[in-house]
Order: sequence, then C-alpha cells, then structure tokens
Amino acid sequence: MEVITAKTAGFCFGVKRAVEKVYDQVNHGKKEIYTYGPIIHNEEVVSDLESKGVKVLESRKELEQLQSGTVIIRSHGVGKKIYQMIEEKGLELVDATCPYVRKIHRIVREKSEQGSQIIIIGNDTHPEVEGIKGWCVHPAIVVADRMQAEALKLPEGSKICVVSQTTFNYNKFKNLVEIIDKKGYDIDVINTICSATEERQLEAGELADKVDAMIVIGGKSSSNTQKLFEICKANCVNTYYIQTLDDLELYSLPPVNCVGITAGASTPNYLIKEVQKYVRNEL
Ligand code: F3S
Repeated sequence: MEVITAKTAGFCFGVKRAVEKVYDQVNHGKKEIYTYGPIIHNEEVVSDLESKGVKVLESRKELEQLQSGTVIIRSHGVGKKIYQMIEEKGLELVDATCPYVRKIHRIVREKSEQGSQIIIIGNDTHPEVEGIKGWCVHPAIVVADRMQAEALKLPEGSKICVVSQTTFNYNKFKNLVEIIDKKGYDIDVINTICSATEERQLEAGELADKVDAMIVIGGKSSSNTQKLFEICKANCVNTYYIQTLDDLELYSLPPVNCVGITAGASTPNYLIKEVQKYVRNEL
C-alpha cells in the first residue's frame, strides 16, 4: 500500500516555537512554570509538560490568584489586560504569542485607534479571537458565518477594518468579505490568515483528492484540524479523524491502494510517524 504524508502535516512555525519556549524554561531548571491555557491543543504534549511540572492556568481567575512564578503566553496570544495583570502582579512573563498573531494585535489596535470598527472573521469563542478583541480600542464585531455577515448592520459609509482569525478557511473568508463589501462601508480588508494554514489546507485537499483513504490527525478541540477534516472529507469519503493511533485501531481501514496522511498544526511529529508505521504495517 502506498502511504503519502503531506509535507505540511504537523506543527507550524508558531506552535513549534511556543512548545520549544516551554521546554526551554523546564530545561533551564525554572520552577513554578505556568502556561496561560494549554500551550497547544494536544493532550499528549500537555500531559508530558505536566509531568515535568508545568501547570496550566485554566482561567483568568487562576492567574489572579497566582503569587509567584513564570507565566507563558501561548501562540494564540492574549488581550492587553492579561499582559497588564502579569506585570502588576510582578510575575515573570514569557511571550510565546505567534508573531503572525502579534501582527493582528498591532493592526487592530492601530486601526481601532484611527476610528475603524474592527470586524474579526472567526470563531467568537476561540482564544485567538478573544485575544484579538482584547487589543481593540472599541468592541470588535466577530463574524463567523454567512448569516452573521448578512445580519451585520452599521451606519452607511462606516469605516471598517476586516481581519481574520489566522486559522480561518480562506474561501469562507472570501465569501464573507464579499457579503460585507456589498453593504456600502468604507472597507479595509486585511487578510491575516496564516499561510501555514492555507498551505496545509490546500495540500490536504489535493492529497485527499488523489488517495483512496485519508487520515487526519489532531486534537478534537483543534479548530484547524477540524477544518482539515472538512476539506478532506469533501474530497475523499473515506476520511478518518483521529487523535492518536488508538483511534485508528478502532476503525478498520478499508482495503485500499493509497492512503494519505495529514495532521493539524498542534500534532507532534512522533504521532504522525506512529500512524505512518501502523498504516505501512511496520508496527
Ligand atoms: Fe502562527 Fe500560523 Fe501557526 S499564525 S501559530 S504559524 S498557524
């Protein structure tokens, strides 16, 4: 059986950088290390870090209660208030926000200071979007789908600046922007979708189109993995969404000639390798 693994499968630059920053702190013998939220959407990596003493702060309240230690901000980034809180409490800060997300923070801060209404195309409850909202001078509007784009109502001629969650699907973004663009606003669209996501989505779609079965590896709560799954499923009915090899063992792969593998941005390399070996019958 032929097994083709997407070149773009797995950790993107921002996630790799964030995970390395946490391990750096551990390797430097730092005590009391906390990440503000799980460093990535991957249970294996998070529990490995936990076994090395890295604790996850699950909420703002937990951060408020912290008296000492180092707080690592993950690649998704956070709003301005969290930085202020860490500083006021005298905690040490390690900022692992992906530089591409920091760029969005700068854009929305500047544009909202200049009087633009910020529209974020994305999922309102996603931590990255929460963080972006936290850099806008006035409350941002989040648009996740067609219905919300159509329902958007602002005074005619309003100055608006549209940005996107980095992991949003490019075609959906384009469609939503088209709807908003017809409303007669003074619109400034800044495509802030990360190219890592676009490339991974494109390659996954092309690969799914030419294989008989497709395996998508990633955490259940990882939005970029969910999107990869949607794209692959549309091109290949035999698409399987798994978190680890155990899940794949539950499905019985149909007898096929060619299997494609891709993985979300938070999927560590060793998991991809394990799945490759299993499919090739090398385990
Ligand atoms: Fe950054 Fe793009 Fe990854 S925004 S965290 S490099 S998906």
